[in-house]
Amino acid sequence: PKQITWFEIELYQWQGSWYWPPHLEAALAGQTFFEARDDDIIIASSLKAGTTWLKSLVPCIINLPVDEDNDPLIKNNPHEVVSTLEIGVFQGKQNISILPSPRIFHTHLPYNSVPDAIKNSNCKIVYIARNPKDVFVSLWHFMNIFRTQEQGPFSMDKAFESFCNGVHSFGPNLDHVLEYWNKSLVLPQKILFLKYEELKLNPKEQVLKLASFLGKSLSNNELDNILWRSSFERLKNLDVNKSGNSSGFSIPNSSFFRLGTTGDWKNYFTPEMQERLDEIVRLKCEGSGLTLDI
Ligand code: A3P
Repeated sequence: PKQITWFEIELYQWQGSWYWPPHLEAALAGQTFFEARDDDIIIASSLKAGTTWLKSLVPCIINLPVDEDNDPLIKNNPHEVVSTLEIGVFQGKQNISILPSPRIFHTHLPYNSVPDAIKNSNCKIVYIARNPKDVFVSLWHFMNIFRTQEQGPFSMDKAFESFCNGVHSFGPNLDHVLEYWNKSLVLPQKILFLKYEELKLNPKEQVLKLASFLGKSLSNNELDNILWRSSFERLKNLDVNKSGNSSGFSIPNSSFFRLGTTGDWKNYFTPEMQERLDEIVRLKCEGSGLTLDI
């Protein structure tokens, strides 16, 4: 089908992926609108994979040294610090030509639908992937923000069925992840592929890898500072994220900081759900060298 209902939202298919109409309009506009600079940094992710984390980490790495009073994360939700291309930028709602280099943007677009200007320039792409079981749980919670108390949460069974069929905004998730993974293997200078779980497990090593990909070397103090500044615990408890509403989203900033852990799926999945999604992931990833269940 070219059109389908997901969490009571109409999604449309374009180039093999599912879009909410405003995102699709923007994605189409962006194909010709966006002029990339060679030193642009593009964060890329599927939904709920750790976008907010990278939107915090990358600016911290790029804008060193930051004195405490000028830390943009204190006054702004990470989604305001780094704009998503499909949310306004592609439609010319921000004057991005005046932004100083290096500009940092984000996209949820699958690689094949990223504008040629990005693919053909020397700009760098940092991708983040996450265990699909945790992505699903995080997404289900996120979508429930749009439900009233009387309505109660969405049916997890129906949401799971959709997820397994690849039907969700910017889905199928596994196609998204695998395409960036495969591209990162052939274009290692252009695309860095990170995993949420590895960032959690070995934050220092992973942030050094990210910084080096972006051409920055960090002292121990800088590394510690970046890790603290972009940490879930710190960001969740900042006033702006406890009470604000970020521009471009009609949702509270707090909804981007739910639990921030790995393995929360164990609190929700039945053995049947686990078996089904594991098998889908196994079949999809077979032969790719990618493991997502870590
Ligand atoms: P949970 O719902 O499992 O808590 P995205 O930013 O792509 O929408 O992903 C959201 C997920 O990243 C949420 O996962 C959220 O809690 C988590 N997250 C947000 N900021 C984070 C941070 N600084 N460190 C670690 N996880 C973070």
